[in-house]
Amino acid sequence: MGKLKIVAIVGSLRKDSYNLQLALLAKEMVGERADFEILEYADVPLMNEDIEFPAPESVARVREKISSADGIWFFTPEYNHFFPGVLKNLIDWLSRPVSDTIPQVLSGKMTAISGIGLGMSGTSIAQDHLVALISFLNMKVMNVPRLTVPNAWQQLDGEGKLQLKESILFLQKQADAFLDFLQGK
Ligand SMILES: Cc1cc2nc3c(=O)[nH]c(=O)nc-3n(C[C@H](O)[C@H](O)[C@H](O)COP(=O)(O)O)c2cc1C
Repeated sequence: MGKLKIVAIVGSLRKDSYNLQLALLAKEMVGERADFEILEYADVPLMNEDIEFPAPESVARVREKISSADGIWFFTPEYNHFFPGVLKNLIDWLSRPVSDTIPQVLSGKMTAISGIGLGMSGTSIAQDHLVALISFLNMKVMNVPRLTVPNAWQQLDGEGKLQLKESILFLQKQADAFLDFLQGK
């Protein structure tokens, strides 16, 4: 088996996103144990069946990244107790067959879910909705542990950078668990 490949999907397009910062911390935790890439998808258009075939270049690119990954790790904000529309749009694209002979690329992919938010739910309600969607798409979800970080505003330094307190231990545990999950341990 070659080096494991993890693709992180961050459900926020915000430059200083806390979820992006969480993903970057997770990358540090994973270290040399796997390749860890954050998926760029801001250029994926809104789903429109009129432009589905041939797939836009951005869609072909993200499909290729997902296809070659061993694991997908979602880092999602919570918007109105749901996960953001940009993430739903991306998943809608990925949920579609590539062609008559090539099925959709999410099926069977192993996945972990984390999230950080300003509110007290720590994104747990959004995560539950995300689990419903990706389970329908036949992704294999690592439900234990999931990471929910509430009250992000309490864990920032003077420049708005995330300084996780006790949550850092849970992120470490989740990274270890996901690497085991990917290796069938
Ligand atoms: C449209 C919208 C709805 C939101 N709804 C929630 C919510 O339901 N629960 C919550 O904890 N935070 C909510 N927030 C605040 C987010 O937690 C906060 O904007 C967070 O920083 C978003 O994640 P990001 O930093 O990764 O972009 C909402 C923010 C927006 C823009």
